[in-house]
Amino acid sequence: MLSTIFIPHGHCYLWKNGLVLLHLSSDLLIAIAYFIIPIMLVYLVDKREDIPFDWIFLCFGAFIIFCGITHLMEVWTLWYPNYWISGCLKACTAAISLSTALLLFYLLPKLLAIPNVPKLEALNTVLAKEISERKKIEAKLQIQTQELEEALEKLQSTQAQMIQNEKMSSLGQMVAGVAHEINNPVSFIYGNITYANEYARDLIELVEMYGRHYFQPPEEIKNKITAIELDFLKQDFINLLDSMKIGASRICDIVLSLRNFSRLDEAEFKQVDIHEGLDSTLIILENRLKGRSEKSKIQIIKEYGQIPFVECYPGYLNQVFLNILVNAIDAFDSDNSQNNSNGVKNKPNLIKISTKRVSNNLVLIHITDNGPGISSEIRPKIFDPFFTTKKVGKGTGLGLSLSYQIIVDKHDGKLFCESTDKQGTEFFIEIPICRTL
Ligand SMILES: Nc1ncnc2c1ncn2[C@@H]1O[C@H](COP(=O)(O)OP(=O)(O)OP(=O)(O)O)[C@@H](O)[C@H]1O
Ligand SMILES: [Mg+2]
Repeated sequence: MLSTIFIPHGHCYLWKNGLVLLHLSSDLLIAIAYFIIPIMLVYLVDKREDIPFDWIFLCFGAFIIFCGITHLMEVWTLWYPNYWISGCLKACTAAISLSTALLLFYLLPKLLAIPNVPKLEALNTVLAKEISERKKIEAKLQIQTQELEEALEKLQSTQAQMIQNEKMSSLGQMVAGVAHEINNPVSFIYGNITYANEYARDLIELVEMYGRHYFQPPEEIKNKITAIELDFLKQDFINLLDSMKIGASRICDIVLSLRNFSRLDEAEFKQVDIHEGLDSTLIILENRLKGRSEKSKIQIIKEYGQIPFVECYPGYLNQVFLNILVNAIDAFDSDNSQNNSNGVKNKPNLIKISTKRVSNNLVLIHITDNGPGISSEIRPKIFDPFFTTKKVGKGTGLGLSLSYQIIVDKHDGKLFCESTDKQGTEFFIEIPICRTL
């Protein structure tokens, strides 16, 4: 703009080389510095998103760039006197600088309010301390919650086991009571049947004797002989008494087994014949072992070894045998019902019970079935209280957990299970022969 009427700025320096060079180099260096500073400010704002009031840095950048441009203009006007352009650029720089100054003025209190580094560090330390304390409390709370959950679980399981124990004990009491009540009448029925048999034979002999001596009895007696079919009656009466004797003897066996099974009178540690307990349990389960059809029949194989009497709580031990055997029978039942629907079943149901002395003071009772087995996923859980795979109302899931408690806690023994899916299940019960050894 009308630069021709002005003289270049270099004239003011009388074109002294040194002075022109000094101004030229200084202005150039200032301009370069003023262009680099905004680049760094933009970079800083871009990288540090957390910097508060980042826009003020951009304002600084803008006014510094304009300052840089005015210095470049200074270089230009050394030779070319475009002072109007130079003036306009200065005016722009002034406007931007002034705005930045005003904005800074407005921002100053806020900037002053930003905590300084030592203050921030102190705050940080307080916060870190608070966080660590909270974490400690949280961890403590977590432990307490876990302890509470465990206690609740234990309480629930103890309660359920107490209920189950109570159930078993009242069942045992009932069984013992019924057995006791039946025992007396059955004993005199069984005891008197032998005499009844003898008397019947005597009477029949007497009647036959009468027949031999009075072969022409009166008409009335003849009619009676025909009516009662005397020959058949004589033969059948003896047969009948014989089968009554067998029946009564069976009732005596069952009553004995029931008493043997409950053994409530023996709440203390006692030396007993384990085989007797196993046999009594099998008699109690006879009806279920017989099954409803040939297919559901369960064959029992006993391989009893030479074992001495074992010191134990007989009633409790029999409960363990009962639980394990009932589980095997239930497994056969469910397997049979599934196989029925599929129409495949070719192996007979077998339960093998063997006993042996495994060391000086240890006997092993090994109960095996060739049922459906227990899959590897559920095997680790079978001794857990309430774990059951049976339908609601069918199993409480306490049988094995109680058995475990009886063998491990009450008898210092071991109870464990091995099973192959679809092949069968084996239970091992190890108990010391004598606790005082
Ligand atoms: N011989 C076995 N064959 C297959 N599964 C078995 C056998 N014995 C135990 N189980 C499995 O172990 C689970 C737990 O047995 P447990 O005796 O503890 O409880 P339950 O029989 O289900 O119920 P409860 O005995 O209280 O009536 C059973 O539900 C069953 O799935
Ligand atoms: Mg069971």
